Amino acid sequence: MVVAQVWTLQRHFVGFPKLSDFELKDEQLPEPKHGEVLLAAVFLSVDPYMRPYSSMRMKEGDVLIGAQVAKVIQSCNPSFPVGSHVVAPCGWRSHYMCDGTGLTPLPLDWPQDVPLSLALGTIGMPGLTALYGLEDVCEIKKGETLLVNGAAGAVGSVVGPIAKLKGCTVVGCAGTDAKVAYLKDLGFDHAFNYKTVSSLEQTLRKSAPDGYDCYFDNVGGEFSSVVMPLMKQFGRIAVCGCISTYNDMAPQKGPYMQSHIISKQLRMEGFLAGRWEHKNQEALKRLMAWVKEGKLSRTEHVTEGFSNMPAAFIGMLSGDNTGKAVVKV
Ligand SMILES: NC(=O)c1ccc[n+]([C@@H]2O[C@H](COP(=O)([O-])OP(=O)(O)OC[C@H]3O[C@@H](n4cnc5c(N)ncnc54)[C@H](OP(=O)(O)O)[C@@H]3O)[C@@H](O)[C@H]2O)c1
Repeated sequence: MVVAQVWTLQRHFVGFPKLSDFELKDEQLPEPKHGEVLLAAVFLSVDPYMRPYSSMRMKEGDVLIGAQVAKVIQSCNPSFPVGSHVVAPCGWRSHYMCDGTGLTPLPLDWPQDVPLSLALGTIGMPGLTALYGLEDVCEIKKGETLLVNGAAGAVGSVVGPIAKLKGCTVVGCAGTDAKVAYLKDLGFDHAFNYKTVSSLEQTLRKSAPDGYDCYFDNVGGEFSSVVMPLMKQFGRIAVCGCISTYNDMAPQKGPYMQSHIISKQLRMEGFLAGRWEHKNQEALKRLMAWVKEGKLSRTEHVTEGFSNMPAAFIGMLSGDNTGKAVVKV
């Protein structure tokens, strides 16, 4: 019998999450029955969506939602042999028993020198988000100019290099000077610290004097209000996330952007990466190939220990991470 540890939402977050909002509990798991597998977490993901989804989809006492890379440690299901690895959307759990539904096996030819944790980042959901946002929402073309905010994070750090591979000029911003240096290493044409520039508008104008064809928005809120007038005619905006608003206790107010959307004939589209799930296998192969060729970064922010899940989550929301934030068990 295995005793799993699970992190639950003790009380709904009010504003910025606190360590006391989480509770660690034990859960006894029986022996697997026919068709079942027992998983042990190896790497767990902490993602921004967990903050808004906690109020939309969870009640107090629920196990926190999320994905992990797990190892199959017992199996009564031939599709998931002992020792193989899967991506499991089973939440903040050290161990999990299931019948295989929802598990995605990692390819058997996953290279030894590529960390398995990248299946939660660049070669996983955030990488797919970057790729689909650029190709299917922005429909980005060679020679265009792209702006991405949250550029040093899990999604942003894939957006920039893919846009460079496609022959674009790429402008990005992040919240520390060390992250800005990282963006320059990734090949961004212009990068700046949005927290220290004296004028966001002037910095954006200077970085792209003719304006932006595409805007990959991870941040939303006031930042986007500044960008709208700087878009080119027929510009495209991929609304990926709005992390600047996730901890707000009351909705932010304008300035409102409709007049710019009309006069510049912009297309602004929200998206969830799951819309293109049918393309994941092919897209993950492309992401893996780019990683192996050194065209995408392997940088991650790894927190050690399952007991530190809440701290890792709060740290990610605070901007501690460069690249994908993951927890190593
Ligand atoms: N649509 C989809 O399918 C989809 C999928 C995945 C993610 N997303 C969204 O994409 C965005 C990025 O996600 P991610 O997983 O790549 O996270 P991430 O960028 O790896 O981590 C979050 C980062 O957001 C930045 N941040 C935090 N508060 C901020 C604020 N008030 N203003 C500006 N930046 C702030 C911090 O970096 P700094 O130091 O730079 O501030 C922090 O490191 C999020 O909005 C997320 O919800 C959407």
